[in-house]
Amino acid sequence: MADVTIALAKGRIFEESLPLLARAGLEPVDDPEASRKLILATRRAGVRLILVRAADVPTYVQYGAADLGVAGRDLLAEHGGQGLYQPLDLGIARCRMAVAVPEGFDYAGAVRQGARLRVATKYIQTAREHFAAKGVHVDLIRLYGSMELAPLVGLADAIVDLVDTGNTLRANKLRVVEELMPISSHLIVNPASLKLKRDAIAPLIESFREAAGG
Ligand code: PRP
Repeated sequence: MADVTIALAKGRIFEESLPLLARAGLEPVDDPEASRKLILATRRAGVRLILVRAADVPTYVQYGAADLGVAGRDLLAEHGGQGLYQPLDLGIARCRMAVAVPEGFDYAGAVRQGARLRVATKYIQTAREHFAAKGVHVDLIRLYGSMELAPLVGLADAIVDLVDTGNTLRANKLRVVEELMPISSHLIVNPASLKLKRDAIAPLIESFREAAGG
């Protein structure tokens, strides 16, 4: 069994992690796209990767099922970060979290009048804190994807979602009215693992730091 386990999500984070993993000597032996394996050996002896859903990465690391993980700041904010050491912003999978509304919707006016807004998002905690801090009254509706659809079919007045190129918003005639935070992927570490396996994990963190360019 490998000594150190790193949790990663398939998709954009994985693709953007691959060059970093290669520079850190942690390339998977099998092609993760071709193989259906969820546990992948790496080129470095004693280090393996596990593939999990993006939202589950913090949970695997929090409970020590993975020693390290790569997780988006969006999901870390939503998770709360308890039980996680977050030593490094890897600077990959960059985008931003924003509030968006239909092009014709007077968001500022609605907020000024103290209207109660319906907001669809998968980032319930983050959205709740954001609107509470601004004193905006909201009813939050949890969705798991395709948030941009919600205002188009009358499910919500606004959405909180990730925006990268802005193409999805434009294609659905939505516009950004507020930015919550810039997003990128961070290296997260289980603090107990770091204590117990410091000799293996501290150099890995340094490898990631060098591979990420700082
Ligand atoms: C993300 C996000 C937006 C889109 C933004 O979705 O939720 O829908 O990308 O990118 P853009 O600004 O470049 O158009 P993703 O494709 O990751 O799927 P998901 O909604 O299932 O997470």
